Amino acid sequence: MLLIALIAFGCTGNKEKKQADKKMNLKKEIFGETDGKEVFQYTLTNENGIIAKILNYGGIVTQLWIPDKNGNPEDVVLGYDSLQGYLDDTPYFGALVGRYANRIAGGKFTIDGREYTLALNNGANSLHGGIKGFDKVVWDAEDFIFPDSAGIILTYLSEDGEEGFPGNLKVKVIYTLTNNNELKIEYEATTDKPTTVNLTHHSYFNLKGQGNGDILGHQMQILANKFVPVDETLIPTGELKAVENSAMDFTTPHAIGERIAQVAGGYDHNWVLNTEVEKKLRMAAKVTEPQSGRVMKVYTNQPGIQFYSGNFLDGSLTGKKGKVYNKHYGFCLETQHYPDSPNQSGFPPVILRPGETYQTTTIYKFE
Ligand code: GLA
Repeated sequence: MLLIALIAFGCTGNKEKKQADKKMNLKKEIFGETDGKEVFQYTLTNENGIIAKILNYGGIVTQLWIPDKNGNPEDVVLGYDSLQGYLDDTPYFGALVGRYANRIAGGKFTIDGREYTLALNNGANSLHGGIKGFDKVVWDAEDFIFPDSAGIILTYLSEDGEEGFPGNLKVKVIYTLTNNNELKIEYEATTDKPTTVNLTHHSYFNLKGQGNGDILGHQMQILANKFVPVDETLIPTGELKAVENSAMDFTTPHAIGERIAQVAGGYDHNWVLNTEVEKKLRMAAKVTEPQSGRVMKVYTNQPGIQFYSGNFLDGSLTGKKGKVYNKHYGFCLETQHYPDSPNQSGFPPVILRPGETYQTTTIYKFE
């Protein structure tokens, strides 16, 4: 009788312990202060040991720890150890990008016959929302935790005229880490005047671990039969070109470095994602790092994905743990509408009107 009771107790005890291990974890710490506001770092941990650290400043993912095939975790995103690093100089490391991800030619666009002029911050063009985009503001944050997921809800009111964009834009971004090894990003926005919106996430990944060499050996697959050719200032020509028989063809996996020399400046292009049903969440890209065995899949309901091979990294930035970030030390997969869509009538529209809700989802899933 006693033995049965002990066995039964033992089993329940184990089960309870297992459930306790399964619990998600969330921690909030002060990371610094800017614009007279406190900046917090939220640490999300899942049952498989994935750790994501995220700031309410710029919605920046500062660290992302992913176990390799032997269970050894590495931080797979580029960034800085302190807030000051992000304030001083950052090529959008880990950040949320808006109102308009990527370039708008001449910083100008027209809605309903009215022309708007944006802040220029990339030669003659506007890039990633302008001088002080969504990557450089302090968002309001609320955290949440459930048995199988935890995350933060970031909100920001971008006022009418900010960086030249029309309309008060209410933006909400939810970051969720799940026990399914997904880092999910849900974007939502509403406006009180017709405006243009294109939000994305700008982590620089290196699946070998940040600062551990270049990403040229990573195997990249992008589920796109076409891409968006650009001119020398990286503004689309308007054409959607077949990737077939070119260095842009990632319909089957290829090492990033295999054909990069054939692409002037390296990869910094938008791919036109294949889709049967518009706005459906589907796999857009898959990246495999052969040595560590780490795999990242990207899912989105966006029409495009910008694959950037870290071409502008040049060794001038020293990031986390004193690591120097040289050329091609990280890659970005930014799910989005195509660059300069406000000025390209042949591209899917990016206008948001009062009464409508902009809603998109992107998932970075790790194996
Ligand atoms: C995007 C752009 C690139 C570059 C990086 C940040 O990927 O397309 O040209 O601006 O952001 O440096």
